[in-house]
Amino acid sequence: MKFGILTGGGDCPGLNAAIRAVVLRAARGGHTAVGYLDGWKGVRDGLSRPLTSEEVRPILQRGGTILGSSRTNPFAREADATRVAERLRADQIDALIAIGGDDTLSAARELARRGGHVVGVPKTMDNDVAGTDWTFGFHSAVDVAVDAVERLRDTAASHHRAIVLEVMGRHAGWVALATGLASGADATLLPEEPYDEAWLMERVRSATQARGYALLVASEGIDLGPRRGSAGGKDEFGHELLGEREVGAELARRIEQATGVETRSAQIGHIQRGGSPELFDRILATRLGAGAVDLALAGRFGEVAVLNGADVVGVPLDQAVGTTKVVTPDWLDLLHTFDA
Ligand code: F6P
Repeated sequence: MKFGILTGGGDCPGLNAAIRAVVLRAARGGHTAVGYLDGWKGVRDGLSRPLTSEEVRPILQRGGTILGSSRTNPFAREADATRVAERLRADQIDALIAIGGDDTLSAARELARRGGHVVGVPKTMDNDVAGTDWTFGFHSAVDVAVDAVERLRDTAASHHRAIVLEVMGRHAGWVALATGLASGADATLLPEEPYDEAWLMERVRSATQARGYALLVASEGIDLGPRRGSAGGKDEFGHELLGEREVGAELARRIEQATGVETRSAQIGHIQRGGSPELFDRILATRLGAGAVDLALAGRFGEVAVLNGADVVGVPLDQAVGTTKVVTPDWLDLLHTFDA
């Protein structure tokens, strides 16, 4: 078989590990692979190159994606959809492995509906893809965010300040949740919970009284209600660029005004998406890449390789796309255990 591979949407650590696993698993069975450049854009515009075992063997630990990525929606225009189908035919692709988050996998589902031979691999630092227990990229991103909190702790304690760390995650608060839990933040604000200003100010007051400083983690997706500043721009899938709203900076202003505690904010943004994948992400990306090849070899097109408990299994793309996997009440309950 001839495999096509693409990586779409926001990059995250582990993409190269997944590409490597696809190519080497395919090669083990005597199959070949080509990589499409910059996500669906590469399929639409016919930009591809062969991927050899020699090239991918050393890329396991490299951040980013050697194929490039973009937020191109190939089904936004019917003419583009036709070009995608024609290109795959012309390139004689037997199985396309689409590695991406909800947008990329939604496009894969549309291709599958139109008869395309495609298998998905979920990735995203947001961990918000339904149908899989975890996505690779998430743990590495949270490692970066926890490290940032530890650095902020030093300076917050030295200056007796409150500091707000704003993290990514769009409309799911997994990154904020894990960062807050793993760093012992005084308050963690997620889009899954309504913003409670009185509670937040109380958390800042009690932390600064107890030990002279406060550390807060805020997800970029929280809704602070009416405020100054404009909404962020939008990407090709219509998603608002939430980082442009700078909720961390806005929170810092509100905290200082309400409590009198000198407050700063930090936004780590795309720093969370770069760097080498950590252990869990390396293994998960490797397993899902290999799993996707196995699904394709078994003719299970229209499925996505996911982590279900300890196992990698295939589920229909329908189960993985269209719904954002948000933080569940039991996680919120755990988070608030440490409020007292
Ligand atoms: O989906 C991953 C993500 O990093 C989100 O957490 C964030 O809101 C968004 O991508 C940023 O998008 P861009 O890379 O287009 O600025």
